[in-house]
Amino acid sequence: MASGEGIALVELDEEGVDRAFRADVLDGLRQKQKAIPARWLYDDAGSELFEDITRIPAYYPTRAETEILTERGEEFAAEIGAGRTVVEFGSGSSVKTPLLLRAIDPAAYVPLDIAGDFLREAADALSAKFPGLPVHPVEADFMREVDLPDAVSAQPKLGFFPGSTIGNLVPRSAVDLLRSMRKTLQADYGVQPMLLVGMDLVKDRDMLIAAYDDAGGVTAEFNRNLARRINRELGGTIPVDDLRHLARWNDKYARVEMHLEAQRDIRFEVSGQSFAMARGETIHTENSHKFTRRSSYLLLEASGWSPVKRWRDSKKRFSLILAEATDPRNAP
Ligand code: AVI
Repeated sequence: MASGEGIALVELDEEGVDRAFRADVLDGLRQKQKAIPARWLYDDAGSELFEDITRIPAYYPTRAETEILTERGEEFAAEIGAGRTVVEFGSGSSVKTPLLLRAIDPAAYVPLDIAGDFLREAADALSAKFPGLPVHPVEADFMREVDLPDAVSAQPKLGFFPGSTIGNLVPRSAVDLLRSMRKTLQADYGVQPMLLVGMDLVKDRDMLIAAYDDAGGVTAEFNRNLARRINRELGGTIPVDDLRHLARWNDKYARVEMHLEAQRDIRFEVSGQSFAMARGETIHTENSHKFTRRSSYLLLEASGWSPVKRWRDSKKRFSLILAEATDPRNAP
């Protein structure tokens, strides 16, 4: 179980290299279909580029979700009720949070993030906006069960996981995460936890590709920054300019995939190991799953969450789903 306090979340070797990053990259580059876990897209430069993406007109998810949070406050209040502690998973800069907190009159707010400095700054900014609301930032990897501060352990919880970040996980990892969230949110006694989770919707292919391959090339830079990061941190010699950003729809898995495609045959080194890519070969860098009402409900049910209510934006591009934890039951 990961605890918020005093644990080094990043393990560095003698040369200051993140061991997990190196292991994932070397392992990923050895696969037949080269693939690197998407979480490594988010170093400082990558996080800034992602913030830029959220402002691109073609990238609709942020605006669509913000519209729902802005306009459905009364309905959130009616369904969720007052007095819950809101636990935000991967809170980041917490820009959407005030919209929710203003609507539901919570008992406390627990932002949970792996990036400590950023987390505390955002928590301070939020405290200033909501004087009187107890704010307890917890630095932790939310992919595992987290011990919440004692001050909130007995209170009923509402987990908040906006942005459709759940869609960046393959279903079996999404189920693991949703189940561990359920454990994290379980109060000492009494009321079942709830979860408000953003899930992007299956839609017109062109609209999806435009969102993940914007004309200004910001998403391309976000993707290529991963190769730059490998060069910077792992002594890599990847010829970044020979890699093209590719966003493609995978219909079998209902997801947009990001790849880096070699424009010519290339050879490079990473951490002293040699790799080659033939022209047209790709490194798979991200999945962004899109959901239908049924697939989102099935994912939640499979993870111990029962959907209570679903909201969509006015153009029906994005959904926010409220779910309640269910006790395991025998099948009829
Ligand atoms: C963070 N996540 C929900 C984004 C998404 O839409 O899958 C990441 C992203 N990748 C490219 N553009 C945005």
